[in-house]
Amino acid sequence: MKCLITDAVYAGIAEELKKYMDVTTSNGKPLSKDEMLKAIGDADILIMRVDPKIDREILDAAKNLKFIGVCAVGLNHIDLDYAKEKGIQVFNAPGLNANAVAELTISKMLDISRNTIPANHDVKENHIWDKYKYIGRELRGKTLGIMGFGRIGRRVGELGKAFKMDIVAYDPFLKPEQFEAEGAKGMGVEELIRTSDFISIHVPLTPETKNLFNKESIGRMKDGAVVLNMSRGGIVNEKDMYEALKEGRIGGYASDVLENELAGSGLSGNDEFNSPLFECDNFIVTPHLGAQTTDAARDIGLYITGKVKEVMGLK
Ligand SMILES: NC(=O)c1ccc[n+]([C@@H]2O[C@H](COP(=O)([O-])OP(=O)(O)OC[C@H]3O[C@@H](n4cnc5c(N)ncnc54)[C@H](O)[C@@H]3O)[C@@H](O)[C@H]2O)c1
Repeated sequence: MKCLITDAVYAGIAEELKKYMDVTTSNGKPLSKDEMLKAIGDADILIMRVDPKIDREILDAAKNLKFIGVCAVGLNHIDLDYAKEKGIQVFNAPGLNANAVAELTISKMLDISRNTIPANHDVKENHIWDKYKYIGRELRGKTLGIMGFGRIGRRVGELGKAFKMDIVAYDPFLKPEQFEAEGAKGMGVEELIRTSDFISIHVPLTPETKNLFNKESIGRMKDGAVVLNMSRGGIVNEKDMYEALKEGRIGGYASDVLENELAGSGLSGNDEFNSPLFECDNFIVTPHLGAQTTDAARDIGLYITGKVKEVMGLK
């Protein structure tokens, strides 16, 4: 039996599976489509993250493939219908990176509230030591509006409560008692936008959520309110957000994603990326690293390894 492991995934997956089969790894790098087409030929098992897209061509090239283990949450990079038609089982690891993304959300909420990123830049790059330039505000007593009260959203709410924030949430797929059980107040999207001091986005990118934060919705936010997007680029319209930040209509935008970030089309691609937001001091951003912790990688790796053994009948 042969296993191909691509991208940066938990090293323990290869260590464990080597006991049962031949394991080839890509040394922690995602493969390009051409590289995948060459490498997938005789693999029974593919362990990957989200690059490259697994389309018909790759699935047709994979003559022996029975199992794809995705060490991530999203599966929209795989042609699931065609994989099913070919009898290939596909597993992802939902929820196991929720804490990692939630902690990053809180980290950004604190950073943007206390101006730590521009202040750090001032000290180290400009050699300016001026505490009077950076008067922040606390999270305590502020209203945290969570859009999408799923695994990550609920964990953000739990952490927000530890900071004595008031938690409100919008999720059209939940019943009122499911908000109450988490100590949150469920409300409609309009009320959440109007009343929150911090709005944290944890919904998937869908036709309904694309451009949800645009000129009109941003215009209804409280003065000085902050938007956090650890979810997907495209939910926030960056041009409209740029104009709101430039005009000082809201307090800031903290993001782990961009509309045209490389991850969607493959980190191994050659796409250029840019955003008008790069000009704004009250925009802070990281390169989609929400789930990048050793803890989440280990938990996901152990889960996917267990699934391989279960499905392939390995003892
Ligand atoms: N930054 C990162 O590295 C990273 C990592 C993992 C996930 N994510 C993103 O975070 C999102 C949430 O992840 P999760 O694990 O919490 O998913 P989840 O499925 O547990 O939760 C998503 C929630 O959004 C709700 N929802 C769906 N459509 C909605 C809408 N139109 N309006 C309001 N709520 C809606 C669902 O009912 C669900 O409760 C993912 O879709 C993904 O885009 C980002």
